[in-house]
Amino acid sequence: MQDTILFSLPETELNIYSKKNPVEVPVIENKIVTTGRSPNFIRHITFDVTGTGLEGKVRAGQSIGILPPGVDIKGKPHQLRLYSSASPVFGEDGEGKHYSTTVKRLIDENWETGELFLGVCSNYLSSVRTGNKVNITGPSGKRFILPEHPEAFNYLFFATGTGIAPFRGMTKELMARKTTNSVNIIFGCPYRTDLLYADYFQKLDREMSNFNYLVSVSREQIRRDGSRPYVQHQLIDNREILQPILHQPNTLIYVCGLKGMETGIFKTLHRLGMHEYMNFRKGSAEDVTADWTDDHWKKAVKPSERMFVETY
Ligand SMILES: Cc1cc2nc3c(=O)[nH]c(=O)nc-3n(C[C@H](O)[C@H](O)[C@H](O)COP(=O)(O)OP(=O)(O)OC[C@H]3O[C@@H](n4cnc5c(N)ncnc54)[C@H](O)[C@@H]3O)c2cc1C
Ligand SMILES: NC(=O)c1ccc[n+]([C@@H]2O[C@H](COP(=O)([O-])OP(=O)(O)OC[C@H]3O[C@@H](n4cnc5c(N)ncnc54)[C@H](OP(=O)(O)O)[C@@H]3O)[C@@H](O)[C@H]2O)c1
Repeated sequence: MQDTILFSLPETELNIYSKKNPVEVPVIENKIVTTGRSPNFIRHITFDVTGTGLEGKVRAGQSIGILPPGVDIKGKPHQLRLYSSASPVFGEDGEGKHYSTTVKRLIDENWETGELFLGVCSNYLSSVRTGNKVNITGPSGKRFILPEHPEAFNYLFFATGTGIAPFRGMTKELMARKTTNSVNIIFGCPYRTDLLYADYFQKLDREMSNFNYLVSVSREQIRRDGSRPYVQHQLIDNREILQPILHQPNTLIYVCGLKGMETGIFKTLHRLGMHEYMNFRKGSAEDVTADWTDDHWKKAVKPSERMFVETY
């Protein structure tokens, strides 16, 4: 096998606006991106940062902070919440003036009282109308971004739910750079109605021979063994597409979405003998035994320099 191609991450300007010094910007778009009868409400929300220090400064994979108005039950101002940019660095408008994010309403029952529980910030943001102003901070995050010369690499982008946001932006950037390397979106969601930005990805899949869009619809599809399909299973079920790419020395893996989803990916990569994407904190791949629990995996393994994980 060839040596891994070295890469570096671009410099980023962090926290141009902070919690103590946020910037107020208008929302210029707020539209639902789940379809039909989805039980989930996920919205694509766009901010106009024209004339602020954020113009042209938010990279795909970085997050912006939102300061919801009001106070918590202790009477303190609500904490800031982070949302990933779903836009390329040049924004939705091509000039870095309009940046979007993908927000899911957190709607649940209170674990203790059984009363309706509405997440503070996701519901505030989802209900914001076009023209309303929102206090934002950022950008934050300097590692979960595309490398310098991003078109020199192949990518496996694994996303669950709103974890697709950064990969929409990264894909737009790679397409704008006319990459001829391989770009693969591997997306997991509960229902077909939750295939976020599917029109965009399906069109690329049809038109670009170097782009693949693979979906794992966990509650509607069933694997041969009767289990729910998750994103990591694509490495097995679509091995003829993905394994040749994984073997190339210029391939990078990015993972975004549900906390802990990386464990299934590590386990599957191990099963395939693809150890260049992981590092063992102690020992090596030879120490792995069939009785390793997910907790054991979480403690024993971390991503290598060829894998980027942002799961919360
Ligand atoms: C780097 C980063 C990027 C992110 N990007 C995105 C993104 O692009 N899109 C997105 O939608 N989200 C994203 N998130 C998550 C986001 O920041 C918020 O955490 C999420 O929107 C929930 O915030 P909220 O204010 O609505 O909920 P909160 O009011 O903060 O409620 C959530 C809290 O309430 C508790 N809770 C949850 N359910 C219940 C219940 N039923 N009963 C009692 N307590 C409960 C939880 O312990 C949790 O602490 C990201 C997070 C990080 C760290
Ligand atoms: N930058 C970031 O860090 C960032 C950005 C955006 C979002 N997020 C986080 O991403 C999460 C997205 O949640 P969501 O509610 O939008 O997702 P969702 O729509 O519920 O989709 C999650 C999908 O993943 C499946 N799944 C469950 N456990 C899994 C596992 N162990 N491995 C692989 N797949 C698994 C689910 O299947 P079943 O439910 O059917 O079992 C479902 O199909 C949120 O927690 C959000 O905070 C983080």
